[in-house]
Amino acid sequence: LANNNVPDHAFSFEGIFGKYDQAQLRRGFQVYSEVCSACHGMKFVPIRTLSDDGGPQLDPTVVREYAAGLDTIIDKDTGEERDRKETDMFPTRVGDGMGPDLSVMAKARAGFSGPNGTGMNQLFKGIGGPEYIYNYVIGFEENPECAPDGIDGYYYNKVFQVGGVPDTCKDATGTKITHGSWARMPPPLTDDQVTYEDGTKATVDQMAQDVAAFLMWAAEPKLVARKQMGMVAFVMLGLMSVLLYLTNKRLWAPYK
Ligand code: HEM
Repeated sequence: LANNNVPDHAFSFEGIFGKYDQAQLRRGFQVYSEVCSACHGMKFVPIRTLSDDGGPQLDPTVVREYAAGLDTIIDKDTGEERDRKETDMFPTRVGDGMGPDLSVMAKARAGFSGPNGTGMNQLFKGIGGPEYIYNYVIGFEENPECAPDGIDGYYYNKVFQVGGVPDTCKDATGTKITHGSWARMPPPLTDDQVTYEDGTKATVDQMAQDVAAFLMWAAEPKLVARKQMGMVAFVMLGLMSVLLYLTNKRLWAPYK
């Protein structure tokens, strides 16, 4: 799933030295919990990871209280309903009007493709999962000319590719002539919908970036640790190459 309407965005966690921005993760978590979680669960993300190093790093007491305020859960061992604990996963959302689980959405969607079907853009810019989420959330537009009345209960989104389009927006071969398609999700954000504790102005654009970064962390909590490990391996292997080269020189020196 990829499309050409997603511009690249320089997130803090990109590049070999990139790191998650803790303040941004905290803001993104706030957007998720105050807005998105009404319709989207994260059933693969343990709540306690909110206080992990490198994540939003929330205070463990805050996380405990947050968990207790979420939907109750049926205990696997006792079979009885109880309050949710920080050791449980985030709740899931199913039913009419609910959206897909967002646990790994940032890895499940691609923002970039091409050029000309080669996929080279992904090599240079990355897959573009967080970019896709960012642009999807802000990508709602007026219905295009081919269908001014749109589809009842659906919203036109310029980056959404897999939704339906009315017949009037298809050409003779049945291919859609619009950039995007109609999504079941209503535009979720309006300016100042949340009040950020760190004083950042909560514009739609800011909230969309923050929640995209947060969802990237949710899908790839070990991203930074993995990059650092890669760097260590790189340096060690480089060092070993030098030593092996010198060893080789010395071993063969008598026969030259
Ligand atoms: C789909 C993100 C808020 C309902 C999606 C998708 C993402 C997403 C990434 C998947 C798009 C795709 O398949 O490519 C978010 C974020 C939100 C948010 C980041 C908060 C800022 C909401 C809210 C609702 C909602 C509040 C309900 C009122 C849905 C539905 C879909 C969806 C029904 C399925 C769309 C379709 O397949 O037609 N959302 N969402 N979302 N979301 Fe949300």
